[in-house]
Amino acid sequence: MATALQAVRGMNDVLPDEAAAWQRVEDVARDIFERYGYRQMRLPIVESTPLFVRSIGEHTDVVEKEMYTFDDRLNGESLTLRPEATAGIVRAAIEHSLTYERPLRVWTGGPMFRHERPQKGRYRQFHQLDVEALGFAGPDVDAEQIVMLARLWRALGLADVRLSINSIGDAAERHAHRAALIEHFERHRAALDEDALRRLHANPLRILDSKNPALQEIIASAPRLVDRLLPPSRAHFDALCALLDEAGIRYSVDPRLVRGLDYYNRTVFEWVTGALGAQGTIAGGGRYDGLFEALGGKPTPACGFAIGIERLILLMHAQGATRIHVPDGYIVHAGERGGALARRVAETLRDHGASVVLHAGGGGFKAQMKKADASGARLAVIIGDDEADSHSVAIKTLRNGGDQVSVPLQDLPARFAAMNISKDEYGCL
Ligand code: HAM
Repeated sequence: MATALQAVRGMNDVLPDEAAAWQRVEDVARDIFERYGYRQMRLPIVESTPLFVRSIGEHTDVVEKEMYTFDDRLNGESLTLRPEATAGIVRAAIEHSLTYERPLRVWTGGPMFRHERPQKGRYRQFHQLDVEALGFAGPDVDAEQIVMLARLWRALGLADVRLSINSIGDAAERHAHRAALIEHFERHRAALDEDALRRLHANPLRILDSKNPALQEIIASAPRLVDRLLPPSRAHFDALCALLDEAGIRYSVDPRLVRGLDYYNRTVFEWVTGALGAQGTIAGGGRYDGLFEALGGKPTPACGFAIGIERLILLMHAQGATRIHVPDGYIVHAGERGGALARRVAETLRDHGASVVLHAGGGGFKAQMKKADASGARLAVIIGDDEADSHSVAIKTLRNGGDQVSVPLQDLPARFAAMNISKDEYGCL
């Protein structure tokens, strides 16, 4: 027998029992994004490698170590499986001149690829919902996006997701801060690891997001950019805080929050849960006012965020907020006339909006009833030749007591709906 092949490490299958949670996240998110005026955009999964190098930054973990990059077979062009969506959105906005007449609120979603060490909550193919407001200087849209995320957590029934915010200033402030950081880390040079030494002069801000436990103390004592903001950045940050206060959003200001991608300026934020261990950041984002220009576009201020769907679903499981999808009814049938009626009844109930599974594969009533039970359906509809002859069906509740009633065909849709009273699109797991 040939060896069975397996999925690539860090790339997961979403099996039918899991899919309902995914659909729920995607449906609820799409509805909320649209209620705030964000419209969907769909983008290629493969982009040219320089797009990511120029936007995410040469000295970041993503570009240095995590990209799936390959040469196109035909012309040798270097291509990369997208590690995130913002760069592609900005590329498309420039390419199609989407934002020069008026600003644009957009969202997108789908698989992203990073060659990280797989563990719970960290995968090599993962999925994001990504939201961007292009052409808005803020801080009003910065706050809008945070308020929108708070609404999403509420709609999904999530608790205990904490918001951290920070301002990392503009390029000039970061430049001044850079010198202070280099001086600080030079003083601790002997303790730095290989990554930190490489970044020390190239991009010292990136040392701040090192995950090496041995560096955490040195990082904690580093000078803080939020203390050196110039008046325009300070005013932007203060106004954002005021808008969050007004909206009743709780947050903490975390001066160490710098995010792992180079394109950010001013506002950065993350939503973190304690329920998932080390991979607790379920969404992160911020402002990237310089990215359009860096990618050859006209100056266009912008702000956005991305949600990690796998982490969100892990959190929903941890908090009992996931459900599996179950059919409303399962139709068991026997006999030729019974089978013909069962097929008609299935279509009629579906016409009335119910989800019904019509038993396939034959077998006696008893075996079929076992399948009906296992399907999780609330109701079984039982149809034999006798029912066909008397223009009726039997409906049996499969939960709470198992009553069975005989229902004339003309009353079926209404009686089925009435007996399906506990109907809630998602049955409890
Ligand atoms: P990010 O912080 O790199 O930001 O990723 C956003 C979210 O994606 C993370 O908070 C996490 O939930 C999820 N995520 C990241 N890497 C993995 C992984 N290996 N496995 C599972 N989940 C992961 C961005 O990607 C920015 N483009 C966000 C943004 C949009 N900023 C402005 N606009």
